[in-house]
Amino acid sequence: TDEQTALFTIFGATGDLAQRKLYPSLFRLFRKGFLNDSFAVIGTARRDWSNDVYRNAVSESIQSFQPTSTELAEFISHFYYQAHDVNNSEDYSLLQTLADTLDNKYNLKSNRIFYLAMAPHFFGTITQQLKEQGITTKDGFNRLIIEKPFGSDYQTALSLNNEINAAFEEDQIFRIDHYLGKEMIQNISAIRFGNPLFTSIWNNTYIDNVQVTLAEELGVEDRGGYYDTSGALKDMIQNHTLQVVSLLAMEPPKTFTERDIRSAKIAALNDIKLYSAEEVAENFVRGQYDANPNTGQLAYRQEPNVAPESQTETYVAGKLTIENQRWQGVPFFIRSGKRLSKKETIIHIVFKSDLNPFATKEAAGLLPNNILTIYIQPTEGFSLTLNGKEIGDNFKIEPLKLAFEHSSEALDNSPEAYEKLLLDCLKGDGTNFTHWDEVAQSWRIVDVIRQTWDKQTPDFPNYISGSNGPKCADDLLAKDHAIWI
Ligand code: BG6
Repeated sequence: TDEQTALFTIFGATGDLAQRKLYPSLFRLFRKGFLNDSFAVIGTARRDWSNDVYRNAVSESIQSFQPTSTELAEFISHFYYQAHDVNNSEDYSLLQTLADTLDNKYNLKSNRIFYLAMAPHFFGTITQQLKEQGITTKDGFNRLIIEKPFGSDYQTALSLNNEINAAFEEDQIFRIDHYLGKEMIQNISAIRFGNPLFTSIWNNTYIDNVQVTLAEELGVEDRGGYYDTSGALKDMIQNHTLQVVSLLAMEPPKTFTERDIRSAKIAALNDIKLYSAEEVAENFVRGQYDANPNTGQLAYRQEPNVAPESQTETYVAGKLTIENQRWQGVPFFIRSGKRLSKKETIIHIVFKSDLNPFATKEAAGLLPNNILTIYIQPTEGFSLTLNGKEIGDNFKIEPLKLAFEHSSEALDNSPEAYEKLLLDCLKGDGTNFTHWDEVAQSWRIVDVIRQTWDKQTPDFPNYISGSNGPKCADDLLAKDHAIWI
């Protein structure tokens, strides 16, 4: 395995993300040999922890991997803690000293990755201090990993980006959209461009509509405070859903390199129609979950830290129009919501149908649509729904499914999204991170929807927890003579 060399500095090292995702991912990279002798991690946060307390916390977060005692001791010996107040500039010089010490000790070649696992309003200050106080280096690489939300609309995203750009160039910024680290999201390009069968028909001559569903069974859990200021549109559509759409809709990249893939995705996002207020009303619907007396699930408005009259949507469905030659006339239906009947991230490419040549004159009709389904999670795989002859004496056409499916949990062979993304960042590959131009255009797309909605009072709640969402989402497709698969 090609061992990587870097110093990680994690801001927000005592937080949830670090414990649940970052330490386990670093450990997996360590186990596979991508991280070995020449790496170190500085954890920073406000709490006054010692290295030992920090190392204990790291150990706990990787218990499920059942490391041997030697393995564990070796791994955690690379972790160092530095109490840090992001607003106190003196704290940064302590950080600089520790960084330089570790650089020498582990021979880290001045390669540095700064992971900001904290609230975005600190990003500007931190990045500025990193640069001004010489914590970024001259000789090695300097990379910044940041988490969503990246702004709350186009304007706030732009100011945030300008602040960060004062210290880091675009190619040093790695904006996480953890969906891009998922095995099956990365597989979208494989199936599109690895199969001439599909490459040749991936357009409006053959495709009737595309459906992207990001359904969750969970409610807002303990994140009511954050979620009530966000809602499904900003939480799931602006980022994950539009990323998936861009991968499905983009023109074939000239080469499969970071630059060409990103520009193909940006071009696709730029071709999504920006709706007027009337078009928003026609093409987008929203919902909010209600209590389910049978299961005891609470209504969204009863959740902790949610306003009792909240108008925040927990469900969005919409029709996107992509204005280019390939997609003229092909609706992209998208939907995402919480407290639905099950967790399911799934894509359906619905092909156009034809007259059924076997139908009798009296029962003339269309053939069932051929459908390519891409299962993202929890089931992973593909299926292709084709028509065949029903077994028996008569000649009746019926849909048959060719499927390659497995459960990611059962096989446990899909590297955790964060593990893949950290490795990409170590290698300097930004393909599976969102470029500023993608973020900017995604905000422009959702801003018009948000602004329109904010002027009207929704009729909430409008779907029962554990159901398939509000009726308006079905009505939306009916207007196009389509149904959710
Ligand atoms: C996050 C959202 O980005 O994605 C959460 O903030 C959501 O609200 C989560 O639950 C879903 O991610 P996954 O990987 O569980 O599908």
